[in-house]
Amino acid sequence: MERYRVSPVTVTRALSLLTAEGLVVTRPGSGAYVAERPVPASGPADYGWQAVALGDRSVDPSGMTWLLTPPPEGAVALSGGYLHPTLQPLRALSLAAARAARRPDAWEVPPLGGVPELRAWFARTIGGSVAPSDVLVSSGGQQSLTTVLRAIAPPGSPLLVESPTYLGVLAVARASGLHPVPVPADEHGLRPDLLAEAFELTGARVLYFQPAYQNPTGATLAAERRAEVLAVARAAGAFIVEDDYASHLGFGTPAPAPLVSADPDGRVVHIASMTKATAPSLRVAAVVARGPVAERIRSTQLVAEFFPARPLQETLLELVTSPGWPRHLRAVRAALRSRRDALTAALARDLPGLSHSRPDGGMHLWARLPDGTDDEALARDALRAGVLVNAGRPFFPAEPSAPFLRLSYGGAASEAELSEGVRRLATVLHI
Ligand SMILES: Cc1ncc(COP(=O)(O)O)c(C=O)c1O
Repeated sequence: MERYRVSPVTVTRALSLLTAEGLVVTRPGSGAYVAERPVPASGPADYGWQAVALGDRSVDPSGMTWLLTPPPEGAVALSGGYLHPTLQPLRALSLAAARAARRPDAWEVPPLGGVPELRAWFARTIGGSVAPSDVLVSSGGQQSLTTVLRAIAPPGSPLLVESPTYLGVLAVARASGLHPVPVPADEHGLRPDLLAEAFELTGARVLYFQPAYQNPTGATLAAERRAEVLAVARAAGAFIVEDDYASHLGFGTPAPAPLVSADPDGRVVHIASMTKATAPSLRVAAVVARGPVAERIRSTQLVAEFFPARPLQETLLELVTSPGWPRHLRAVRAALRSRRDALTAALARDLPGLSHSRPDGGMHLWARLPDGTDDEALARDALRAGVLVNAGRPFFPAEPSAPFLRLSYGGAASEAELSEGVRRLATVLHI
């Protein structure tokens, strides 16, 4: 204190920091001492042996790294899969988390399957014939995809997916040893006629698809195709994994009810993600399943991770049952609608030749580039011009049908930023 002329509080803080960094050790009743330094290894470590031990399997996280890395300073994000912090219910979340953490049993093992009131809330929200006992609370949509696919599709088997589809499911499938097989989709979603053919050709027993505001295209499966998709899957004796990742983010023509709400025989395994309408770290979702597959999925989750953290389950329950929740959803939907309009207006102004989807919900639209455009090179050029966009190619399980860009309107700071992002994109895309 004398040497540096600082207060005792500052010295205590400095010592805590040094202790946390391992540079100082404290011995109770004796004092604080400079820690012994480990002897540095001579020369760089040799990890070569690991290549042999690990073998030829690999996990490709590149798409996910790209999705989860914040944009560089000064760049506009027309990318990203989560709401900008200004659209997240941050105050309500802090209050909900504080209430959840104060509960006496907050850190105990939760009831297996999930906190009962939260299971009941999910069942009511998803609707139809879904009962609380059909709901398994899980650790977010991505983890649910891993759990569900691991539970129902053996390594080496085919997995039918819409083409294009969420690149995160392609990564999960490949990491689980599955072979994603494309099924064509158009602006009304999956094409049931070609789905039947794909089942027949591959002998697949699982179809993954998104019913509403599909990532990346923004398409919603048309009401008249729903029964047909179910019938085709029934004829093939296959499961449908329904990833309803953006069900709370509809702002236009409402999407029809999810397939699981009208599924009498446990064919549909439904995943309801909650991060998209709240914040990325509220990593809680629900998996709805019935019959033996439900037991298989529960066992897979239990073996892999025991259960989702109870404080997060309780936080979500506090949040969605608070009086501010419907208000938050209304505000987010209105903001996304207005942002979609701002983005499409900016595209019409600066890139009038670019055709694109006009989603009724979610946060992505899908833009068709002129034939022959290298979408990945374009995305790199765009980044140099100060705007982040997603090239379409990684969303295709096999060869892309054409070059595309995914443009997101949920992750930018404001409508003015969306407009500026398009202006920058137009400096590298000339159509
Ligand atoms: C279609 C789709 N499914 C699932 C997820 C995973 O969401 P989370 O794990 O945050 O619930 C995402 C996230 O980008 C997504 O876009």
